Amino acid sequence: MSHVIDGHTKLCGVIGDPIAHTLSPAIHNYLADAMGVNMTYMPLHVKAEQLQEAIKGAYGLHIQGMNVTVPHKQAVMDSLAHIDEGALAIGAVNTLVRKEDGYHGYNTDWIGLGRALRDQSISLEGKEVIILGAGGAAQAVAYLCGYEKATKVTILNRTLANATTLAKKMDALFADTAFCGLETKAWTTLDGEGYVCIQTTSWGMVPNDGKAVIEDMDFYKKLSAGVDIVYKPRVTKFMELTKAAGAKTCNGILMLLYQAVEAFELMNDVKVTKEAVAGIKMQLEEKFSNEA
Ligand code: ATR
Repeated sequence: MSHVIDGHTKLCGVIGDPIAHTLSPAIHNYLADAMGVNMTYMPLHVKAEQLQEAIKGAYGLHIQGMNVTVPHKQAVMDSLAHIDEGALAIGAVNTLVRKEDGYHGYNTDWIGLGRALRDQSISLEGKEVIILGAGGAAQAVAYLCGYEKATKVTILNRTLANATTLAKKMDALFADTAFCGLETKAWTTLDGEGYVCIQTTSWGMVPNDGKAVIEDMDFYKKLSAGVDIVYKPRVTKFMELTKAAGAKTCNGILMLLYQAVEAFELMNDVKVTKEAVAGIKMQLEEKFSNEA
């Protein structure tokens, strides 16, 4: 990090528990340098029982923006002056921006995934989409599908009730997209082709790498693209199977990158340049290739 801290330096950070593994400081400090923004970004370890105190204290300290990670993404919503539409619908906030009346909350995960898909020339508009999983991450993915006007979204999940609850919630929000929830094994009833599939479960992520929620090649033959939001390992079993079936595939590194870019833009009120995005993309890819 090359920037000099002086009397005008703004402070931003990421709150979570644990927080030591976070990549956000590396991304945000890189962007601050690349964009010439006088801001520094720190990991901030906050325990659940001290969340409210932490938010109040941060406001008093004029901390300009914070990212919010596990386990605070839902609980933090009680401490905010305003929550934007997407974050409210998804039920989770990952970005706070300091305003006159308190912190305003946003969710940049779904926007980040949208930007990542555009980067990969994968479009959801008018498409049939399959979402694997119905947890917190799947909410953001489902919201993006509705926002981007996918025609039909099938949520496949181990626990049927979680899939149908999410499908009903999203169906009520988006008139142009039909959502339906099924048990994972009911994939055999899907009779379309060229689906875009987005994998949101942790089954396939380290330490469960080498696994996928569906391992039957016949499933993957139905896909035109398979996106995994997991980035550790860089190539998941889901991605291997998608690729073997001849479909386009990518991991979650770009989603991670763009949710941070979007958060940086909100916190610092600037538009990150293409050059800065390219720079941080290279750094992240290097980091993950060294780890693999
Ligand atoms: P996140 O917030 O990261 O999405 P989560 O809310 O714990 O994490 O959601 C995890 C998702 O992965 C859920 O859809 C979960 O399925 P259930 O609803 O049945 O719990 C799914 N998942 C986790 N482990 C799984 C496994 N071993 N096999 C299949 N699905 C799994």
